[in-house]
Amino acid sequence: MCGIVGYTGPREAYPIIIKGLKRLEYRGYDSTGVALHNSDGLKIFKKKGKVAELEDAIIGKNLHATVGIGHTRWATHGEPSDRNAHPHRSAGGKLAMIHNGIIENYIQLKQELTNKGYIFTSETDTEVLLNFIEEIRKNNQCYLEEAVRVALKRVTGAYVILILDEDNPDTIIAARKGSPLVIGVAKGEHFLGSDASPMLEYTKEVVYVNDYELAIVKPDQLILKNLGNEKITPYVQKLDLELAAIEKGGYDHFMLKEIFEQPQTIYDCLRGRLDAEAGTITMSGIQQYTEQIVNANRIIMVACGTSWHAGLVAEYIFEELCRINVEVEYASEFRYRNPVINKGDVIIAISQSGETADTLVAIENAKQKGAIILGVVNVVGSSIARTSHGGAYTHAGPEIGVASTKAFTAQLAVLTMIALKIGYIKGTISEERYRHLLNELQQIPEKAAWTLKHSGKIKELAEKYKDARDFLYLGRGYNFPVALEGALKLKEISYLHAEGYPAAEMKHGPIALVEKTLPVVFVATRDAWHEKVISNMQEIKARKGKVVAVITEGDKTSEQLSDDVMIVPEADEIVAPMLSVVPLQLLAYYIGVAKGYDVDKPRNLAKSVTVE
Ligand code: AGP
Ligand code: GLU
Repeated sequence: MCGIVGYTGPREAYPIIIKGLKRLEYRGYDSTGVALHNSDGLKIFKKKGKVAELEDAIIGKNLHATVGIGHTRWATHGEPSDRNAHPHRSAGGKLAMIHNGIIENYIQLKQELTNKGYIFTSETDTEVLLNFIEEIRKNNQCYLEEAVRVALKRVTGAYVILILDEDNPDTIIAARKGSPLVIGVAKGEHFLGSDASPMLEYTKEVVYVNDYELAIVKPDQLILKNLGNEKITPYVQKLDLELAAIEKGGYDHFMLKEIFEQPQTIYDCLRGRLDAEAGTITMSGIQQYTEQIVNANRIIMVACGTSWHAGLVAEYIFEELCRINVEVEYASEFRYRNPVINKGDVIIAISQSGETADTLVAIENAKQKGAIILGVVNVVGSSIARTSHGGAYTHAGPEIGVASTKAFTAQLAVLTMIALKIGYIKGTISEERYRHLLNELQQIPEKAAWTLKHSGKIKELAEKYKDARDFLYLGRGYNFPVALEGALKLKEISYLHAEGYPAAEMKHGPIALVEKTLPVVFVATRDAWHEKVISNMQEIKARKGKVVAVITEGDKTSEQLSDDVMIVPEADEIVAPMLSVVPLQLLAYYIGVAKGYDVDKPRNLAKSVTVE
């Protein structure tokens, strides 16, 4: 996944790059490196570990430079180590390169280069591509830009690369396919980043580079070309993102801040769209495709991880409100399965980052087969948003904690609005139910705030259960995907084994795990399945398991059956997942903190999975 940063202009490049890398650490933190061009020539500093570790290690070095590139790595080829850290230097010594992505045919290229006498100092695919570029430049006696173009035509895989050339010191050559690249434009200087966060305090003017484009970036000039060497006019957009939105604002961790932001983010997501009084939902990016959705034979939700869980909740909602057949697919399976896509199928891609490689390729394939693609995406201008025909942004603001929280509830809010709108137009819900649900949805920000206000006890529960070895999360109906999401959160940041299951399915296997040390977390809010869930709780109690339950305020029966409870306010079952997930996010957070883990940057994970 990796985060990449670049700068060329009149300022000191190093502090800009380091600050930028810290903001991009959510993309990976296996190693950090910078390449600077200064009076000592082209210098590379790199080290295994997080950005702060590199900073400490190179205090006192000559870091003055007005051009540089920096990288924070999420290893795909070769273990996290100093040797495999980026930037890599070409065998001839003149070029330094950073890379985000995977070069799939690197073994073949490596063989060709080895036959020509190249020796590699790392195990990465990146070093292979770099030397391949160098070899072409040498052979063809051409400019670096030309060599990059020729090389990339032979490459399969995904990449963003930034290259510095010792002989052309103020220029950064960049290219992209499949991984994100943003260029910030300001007077006499340019900033490069995997997203816009590294450049926020310097410029609001950005260019999103497209696949198969190459950029030649100098302080006062930005040239964009396609791989056929034709010039492209850069499309400069205005960024709508403030610096405060990407800072911690007094919270210990981004994850906690993001959990507590949910009343506001859900409100922001509904604002200007939902008018409960007038009985309207206005979503301009969906408007044009309303007819296709209303007449769809099938909706296919494509996503990964937490976004996939949002898709599962939406499956229940769409089937109930719109009577449309819904399938929810893991993007990684869907893209390779040669799926049957018929005319009249609508694909909804759900993604916080908008850059998840599997989801992106899945929708590109489906688009080629003629499907309508709608994106439910958080990051504005991201690849999935741009590839989709239409859709709706979730407006949750930047999500920096690697474990997704506020993006999930905003995805649910958007998907519920779409379902309500379509169901109403189709006539598959009554006017009365429609109005009721609009009101219920409008109350969610306030009820989420109530849930957070009543969450004080969860920290103690975390202390009590943090030493358990396994957890089981159970729920039925709309709350079944919430159970999956609760289990995923715990796995991600507490490194504890947790399994989510439909509560009724438990007796077909997982019940064998139940014993007195096993906490079983029930998502047991009051809904159509509630009686059944209570029976499942009894079954756990009968086997001496510990019952920890998310329950509706005032539900005495569930409370008596449980060892511990976390409460949410009464809400219609269709909107309840936006509330019932909140205590589970907090439980995972506090267990992760109690165990002393870095909850914002859990091991082995990265925020944006731009490799398949
Ligand atoms: C969520 O906590 C995870 N870190 C992960 O599963 C994530 O939801 C998944 O990678 C999908 O990302 P996206 O929403 O940015 O596409
Ligand atoms: N493949 C490169 C490496 O392993 C870059 C990885 C990435 O972008 O995640 O170093």
